[in-house]
Amino acid sequence: MSIVYLNGDFLPAIEAKVSVFDRGFLLGDGVYEVIPAFSGRLFRLEEHLDRLQNSLDAIQLENPLDFSQWRSMLEELIAKNISPEVSVYLQVTRGVAERDHAFPKATKQSIFAMVNPIRKLADSYYEAGVGAITVEDNRWQRCNIKAISLLPNVLLRQQAVDQGVAEAILVRDGLVTEGAAANVFVVLDGCIITPAKGQYILPGITRDLVLELARSHQLDCAENDITYEELMRAEEVWITSSTKEVLPVTQLNGQAVGEGKPGKVWKNVVQLYRDYKKSLL
Ligand code: PDD
Repeated sequence: MSIVYLNGDFLPAIEAKVSVFDRGFLLGDGVYEVIPAFSGRLFRLEEHLDRLQNSLDAIQLENPLDFSQWRSMLEELIAKNISPEVSVYLQVTRGVAERDHAFPKATKQSIFAMVNPIRKLADSYYEAGVGAITVEDNRWQRCNIKAISLLPNVLLRQQAVDQGVAEAILVRDGLVTEGAAANVFVVLDGCIITPAKGQYILPGITRDLVLELARSHQLDCAENDITYEELMRAEEVWITSSTKEVLPVTQLNGQAVGEGKPGKVWKNVVQLYRDYKKSLL
């Protein structure tokens, strides 16, 4: 039985209960993070907690814990749920209050965290790549906030699942934004390109790491707009997230991407990513 953290206590998941008046439950009024941990070590913790702070600031909610309190709580939680590769899910909501859209006065944030084993995709997915579809990005204009209200992303991802592919790649006004739950990279004329940060994408921690590794190894890369046409003629397409890492997309809308198999730039970058990960263990 897994142990979770809820409002100051560690307890068996089955005993963790939140009020039906919690604004997370009633209004989706909260933010979250997903942080991988390998051999008990939280991966890029500072970056994740910085992003959490940005999300909290954006929804005008005070951070209930400081950096060292987050770190010690999360480390203790991982220690109570021993497993080699996990992802830590944490969320902070605006707490329990009588239902009203406007912020309540003087409520306490609810804090919840749990550890899930990373359901690693089989190696064959990385060897062959996965399929994706393109879908109109009909989410709101504040996609840089890691909000728990994920209904638009849920519906977009389900379209991909219904079509038997791994991800929906979102296009807004003719430009690629991101995936339903991942960032997007393409390789065009040998250059690695991902959309610049802004209000239409989540600033992915994996995205930033891929750019950092590419730059430090002098690979040609850029943060630029990607048009739908460029996406469809890209030599390579990848999606990145904390749980999928760097995953090649080899079929897009039923058409082969490049040669229909993971490309050589991806092979290079995924190796850099894996070496970096290993260097931290
Ligand atoms: N999602 N964009 C969206 C919309 C996401 O939901 C995610 C990750 C990413 C990638 O961010 P990162 O590299 O920091 O994981 C981009 C997580 C894994 C989730 O919701 O489960």
